[in-house]
Amino acid sequence: MDLGLSQEQEQLRDLARDWVEREVVPHVTEWDRAEQVDLKIVGKLAELGFLGLGIAEEFGGSGGDFLSYILMMEELGRGDTSVRGIVSVSLGLVAKSIQAYGTDAQKRQWLPGMCAGETLGCFGLTEPGTGSDAGSLTTRAVRDGDDWLITGEKIFITNGTWAGVVLVFARTGGPGPKGITAFLVPADAPGLTRREIKGKLGLRGQATAEMTFEGVRVSDANRLGREGGGFKIAMSALDKGRIAVASGSVGLARGCLEAAVAYAQERTQFGKPIASYQLVQEMLADMAVETDAARLLVWRAADLVDRGRPFGTEASMAKLFATESAVKASNQAIQVFGGYGYVDEFPVGKAMRDARVTTLYEGTSQIQKLLIGRALTGINAF
Ligand code: CAA
Repeated sequence: MDLGLSQEQEQLRDLARDWVEREVVPHVTEWDRAEQVDLKIVGKLAELGFLGLGIAEEFGGSGGDFLSYILMMEELGRGDTSVRGIVSVSLGLVAKSIQAYGTDAQKRQWLPGMCAGETLGCFGLTEPGTGSDAGSLTTRAVRDGDDWLITGEKIFITNGTWAGVVLVFARTGGPGPKGITAFLVPADAPGLTRREIKGKLGLRGQATAEMTFEGVRVSDANRLGREGGGFKIAMSALDKGRIAVASGSVGLARGCLEAAVAYAQERTQFGKPIASYQLVQEMLADMAVETDAARLLVWRAADLVDRGRPFGTEASMAKLFATESAVKASNQAIQVFGGYGYVDEFPVGKAMRDARVTTLYEGTSQIQKLLIGRALTGINAF
């Protein structure tokens, strides 16, 4: 068994690590306070090919395997979960769904601009009344000649107000997962309105939006995949998306560990660095072990993807463990920092607020447990 990385993978990881240190880390407090990352970061991500990793070169992408994408996610997550989210939603959930299910015309229409950072994508699944039970969504798309008219509400949509294209899931048939179809809707389509949600606990630099579709007209050429095939598109995007969230959470936890180790070595109390106290070392050791264990689960899931093997259950395990570990690591880092961890001059308070969402979005921890339980027993608890 080889747990090493190829030379290309190491180079990519190092490039991402250096870039995050230079272009992201110095700004995160300012962006968090302003509740807005500087959107110039999108162009910079694109310049490095980070918005096209895993997309074929003929559509403007930079190619590469899934593990490379996952390595980038860890580095972006180490810097800022809001920046990581821009990429994991626009590239991971939307562009990759277009690549997997789109027609040639759809790929040519959207992918070059998305890889170049000119157009961001957002993933319109969640609704005010539909979170974990995604198959019960109520947004409707009704046929009108060669067109569809889409009506409904979406909520908690990452990149929502920044996106140029919305991958929206709407009901075209009867109740349940089989009645759902996916559409690519230009964000400037008449009848589509978007509002940013303010007052979030974390992820403050990111645009998280509510969206209203009032008879939004799109042609049948905007349908992604077959009629009734939308739920499977959403689920297969989320299977991989969960590994990306997990990897970003490993990065977040690693950032907390690095900050806590450095602080514990420089902060003295009772005449000694606090790193010399066993109870502090215990916290650091717990963080280190859980972070590494989470990374191994992430890499296992990514490796299955690259080998074309089933990976859904392993993705759920990775997401469950890595996101819960990130919450714990950020909480322990605050404990190491003491009062200084409670103010935003230091990075760990923001990390805790950002970590908290990772156990909610792209499937809660409870959904991951039920998916793992279903795989173990064959019994569907939903
Ligand atoms: N890949 C492909 N197909 C899948 C699939 C997968 N991973 N999971 C299910 N399906 C298929 C099933 O095979 C089934 O098809 P058949 O009947 O043809 O066999 C069909 O879809 C229905 O599947 P289920 O019976 O499993 O559906 P369910 O209604 O029981 O729901 C669920 C399953 C796992 C609970 C699902 O609803 C789920 O994952 N919920 C969580 C939703 C979620 O993660 N939301 C995140 C929002 S998006 C977001 O957060 C993005 C953002 O902006 C950050």
